[in-house]
Amino acid sequence: MQKNIQLETALKEAFYWFHRHPELSYEEYGTTAKIRELLTEAGVEILPCKLETGLVAIIRGEKTGKVQALRCDIDALPIKEETNIPYASEFEGRMHACGHDFHIAAGIGCALLLKERKSELAGTVKIIFQPAEESSLGALKILETDVMEDVDCIWGIHADPTNETGVLGIREGYVTAAVDRFIITVKGIGCHGAHPDDGVDPVPVAAAIISALQTVVTRNINAFHPALISVTRLEAGNTWNVIPETAILEGTVRTMDREDRILFEKRLKEIAEHTAVAYGAQAQVEWIAGPPATYNDKQMAEKCIRLAQTKGSFQVVPEESSLGGDDFAFLEEGIPGCYIKIGTGKGQLIHQPGFRVDPKVIMPAAEYLTELMLNHA
Ligand code: NI
Repeated sequence: MQKNIQLETALKEAFYWFHRHPELSYEEYGTTAKIRELLTEAGVEILPCKLETGLVAIIRGEKTGKVQALRCDIDALPIKEETNIPYASEFEGRMHACGHDFHIAAGIGCALLLKERKSELAGTVKIIFQPAEESSLGALKILETDVMEDVDCIWGIHADPTNETGVLGIREGYVTAAVDRFIITVKGIGCHGAHPDDGVDPVPVAAAIISALQTVVTRNINAFHPALISVTRLEAGNTWNVIPETAILEGTVRTMDREDRILFEKRLKEIAEHTAVAYGAQAQVEWIAGPPATYNDKQMAEKCIRLAQTKGSFQVVPEESSLGGDDFAFLEEGIPGCYIKIGTGKGQLIHQPGFRVDPKVIMPAAEYLTELMLNHA
């Protein structure tokens, strides 16, 4: 008991440190060094692997079993903090506004607790402190190493400010969406604003493409499948009396179903290219694929729920699925995974300057994750 109080204090201290020292995607050098220091001090083994930032801790159980992974992301956001907490960011314009500081502290806690209980652990647990989640591609850095090669299943956690501390949000099936980005360049022929007949105006072409793209959701995708498209940037011309040569549309497509994702890309290209041709212009489409949808394995989700009920430290509520994304999905491709939302106290949402995590959740989260690993081995 005494020991656990000490650990809880240490984890809170670590959390405060990480919150005060936020680092952006791919720049998490100080964060990585601090995680390494805390784990090394506690005698936790760190896997040698070629990661510029981020690291992987490994706990080898004394019994045989599967290899489980836990993903904790570690980066912060370019946001100016407005919380007034005593451990606020010491770096103007940078903030842990997505709770990754909490993920780090919970991951370290889990590593330390599992190390103490090695004799009960069947198999191996790899705790992945992943860089650059906010770039949506940081998980690829982990996939460039051999860390995931022997992993049988993976767990992920995320802070959830829509739930009170002590509440877990868990669902089976799709949790987050596939996140794709597109850039459409419409090329016409520039001319005088008073003589549109001398050129090909790309602006009405862009407008027609924007309207037509919405029909992919309403006319092509199964009405029971979640999907959306948002055109978030539209750029053309720079003055009032010149018809520009090009117009650029940029935005994002979100889908859950794998087939829908393929269909959306195909239809988007067809609509953009053929609409442009119909107006005498040309469209070039760049499709930048992000992470796929996160899918929670039924068995793992059930285990999470059962464990929360038997251990009694968390109440479980059904989690809503979201068309937001998480690059965790890259890591669970081909293996079962489960992504758990951990209530961190109701308040401002993630990516907001007033977002904060209730530090009281750190120790119960670490204990819960430890039990999960011990139970699922
Ligand atoms: Ni996040």
